[in-house]
Amino acid sequence: MTPDDLPRVLVAWNQVLVHDQLTEDRFRHVMLGDPNYEPEGVVIAEGPHREVLGLSASVLRRDVLGKDGGGTEWQFRRGFLKAFFVTEGEHAGEAADALLAAAEAYCRQAGKQELTVTIYTGPYVFPGVDLRYDRIYRLLVARGCRDVQTIESVAVDLRDPAHEARLAAVQRRLGPEVEVLTWHPKLLPQMTKFVAEGDMREWFPVGCEYRYAEPNELTLILQRDGEILGWARYHPGRPRAGFGPILVLERERSKGYGLRLLLECMIRSRDAGSESMYAGWANTGFYIAAGWHIIERHAVLKKDLPAMEEAR
Ligand SMILES: CC(C)(COP(=O)(O)OP(=O)(O)OC[C@H]1O[C@@H](n2cnc3c(N)ncnc32)[C@H](O)[C@@H]1OP(=O)(O)O)[C@@H](O)C(=O)NCCC(=O)NCCS
Repeated sequence: MTPDDLPRVLVAWNQVLVHDQLTEDRFRHVMLGDPNYEPEGVVIAEGPHREVLGLSASVLRRDVLGKDGGGTEWQFRRGFLKAFFVTEGEHAGEAADALLAAAEAYCRQAGKQELTVTIYTGPYVFPGVDLRYDRIYRLLVARGCRDVQTIESVAVDLRDPAHEARLAAVQRRLGPEVEVLTWHPKLLPQMTKFVAEGDMREWFPVGCEYRYAEPNELTLILQRDGEILGWARYHPGRPRAGFGPILVLERERSKGYGLRLLLECMIRSRDAGSESMYAGWANTGFYIAAGWHIIERHAVLKKDLPAMEEAR
């Protein structure tokens, strides 16, 4: 796929992936603007009249950290199929064969042992195949992809007055020594310690300090006695806000700190005009305990890749 193909790829994408409508800007940002993007990883299938029949967008890291600095050892043996679709019609099976073969070849040539859909921690649209796309799911499973995990996304109605009462209760329970602050660069020394102990390279890639150079109202910090113990981000939107990621240091979990941060973000988003809030790829139990519910399920699919010599 070349950047010139973008408008017609997008028309096909939006016809097929109806739950994940994309604009050109977002497609450019997530696919072509991914630091790990390589042109040969993103391919389209075309019909005889140059009509787009499908897309396969793979991404991989050439070293553990990758160009985004966010890779980890557990991810390194994998190539990620970040997006895959074929349009409906008689051609669908043949197009799926060709697109999947291209993704596999790209990953195998880079020495990857597994193709995963998708749990990719760089820029992504969805964490797996949305189970509402039954046709796409079946095309992939019929071609040797195994369903190995289900990832849930969750949402909550922010207009429920119970959230405010819950926040007040948790604030009382935690006491005044636990404070929630919006991000300010003067917190950087404490944040550096938090990032090191938190050990989540996906969210704090190497060199991420530049993201923390300015004050940010949408990044909340939970502090106790001057030490940062929790961090969360949110994005108020209308009507729907987004939440995440959130991290509480392992040694400080199960004390209500995560809940405090979550409820603070919910109330602040509501005050900014949001009616509901969404968290993708969620740690479901934590959100359910705070009154959220599951709205999407994504299947993580995996296909083992034979080494190049074996494949021949
Ligand atoms: C998820 C996380 C932020 C929760 O923080 P925490 O401070 O331990 O959470 P709290 O103590 O406020 O827990 C609030 C409630 O959620 C429940 N809960 C928390 N994590 C849970 C889980 N994984 N499964 C089920 N319930 C969970 C607690 O039991 C508690 O319920 P209760 O009030 O009925 O006792 C923390 O575990 C964490 O940082 N995990 C690693 C990063 C992560 O998974 N982030 C979320 C990605 S979407």
